Amino acid sequence: MQSKGNSQTTGQLTKIDIVVNILKIKVNEMKGQILKALRKCSDYLSGEMLSNQLDTSRVSIWKQIRSLKNDGYTIEASPKGYRLISSPDLLLPYEFPDLEQRMHHFWEIGSTMDNARELAKKGAEEGTIVIAEAQTRGRGRLSREWLSPKGGIYLTLILRPKISPAYAPRINLMASVAVATTIGKLLGLKAELKWPNDVLIEKKKVCGILAEMDAEMDVVNFVNLGIGINANNSIPQFEKTATSLKRALGREISRKKFLAALLVEINRRHARLMDVDLLEEWKELSGTLNKYVRILSPGEVIVGRAINVDTTGALMVKERDGSLKKAVAGDCIYLREGVPSTDI
Ligand code: BTN
Repeated sequence: MQSKGNSQTTGQLTKIDIVVNILKIKVNEMKGQILKALRKCSDYLSGEMLSNQLDTSRVSIWKQIRSLKNDGYTIEASPKGYRLISSPDLLLPYEFPDLEQRMHHFWEIGSTMDNARELAKKGAEEGTIVIAEAQTRGRGRLSREWLSPKGGIYLTLILRPKISPAYAPRINLMASVAVATTIGKLLGLKAELKWPNDVLIEKKKVCGILAEMDAEMDVVNFVNLGIGINANNSIPQFEKTATSLKRALGREISRKKFLAALLVEINRRHARLMDVDLLEEWKELSGTLNKYVRILSPGEVIVGRAINVDTTGALMVKERDGSLKKAVAGDCIYLREGVPSTDI
């Protein structure tokens, strides 16, 4: 578990930051190793065996067991040793052994975007993940609020793509394709994409994506990719346009498994961000193409039929007079076919 770091907002990591991070990584590693050993063993595992295996004192094993219990693990302790009874469905770094060194976990945070921005500015490596069990000031696109109660999945992934800033919107497409694919493969549910980057199930939003870029004219310094998924959280009654994976499936999902699978899908696509395949995948999952849409983009309203996405991820819209308009960003509203002024 990671708690809030120092609050310097720019520049390099301080020595204190580095030492604190190393200590956290060491603690996480030890907790991960204890869990691994307990999971391997169907019976009790003595404190002595654990301390030999991990080359540490029995007191330090006992401390980490106590900390794991505080995190929500049920671990039975008896004269025979320790036995793991159950694990919570929390997105703790030591549940993701390959990632734990670059995973910053918070029980509650304002917004993962803010913390990730600080880390990225201080030079955090590509693939760093800031994840929270809940957010108190979750941010959506266009300055909207993103309700983030416990049970959802809220993360920001720091990416340093070697692309021109003009192609950065492809990252949104990539992330939405990865989320929809994970939903399909893992849960067998059909998810549809709505330009620019919403993921819908049965026409209701289940995931929102927010990308924040820091770039110069022709170089991207970083893109922080924020993903919010309504997983097991309940959806307020008044939210008629949202759903959750739990609601769509009729049961809770394993957030741990979902996150692990999602990160695989993201990694695979991020490695080939400029491939044509990505656009093809997006088109296949898209519910926007061929629909009549109204795009409220900065400084302009575009109304017409969505006919394609171009190589930058912009939406191509054919207006009534036959002219072709390109929407780079904005809000997309579906309209009734032939009656472009009526929302559906
Ligand atoms: C949208 O408006 O559809 C985008 C929502 C993005 C929400 C995620 S949750 C994790 C990250 N932290 C935030 O504050 N926002 C993004």
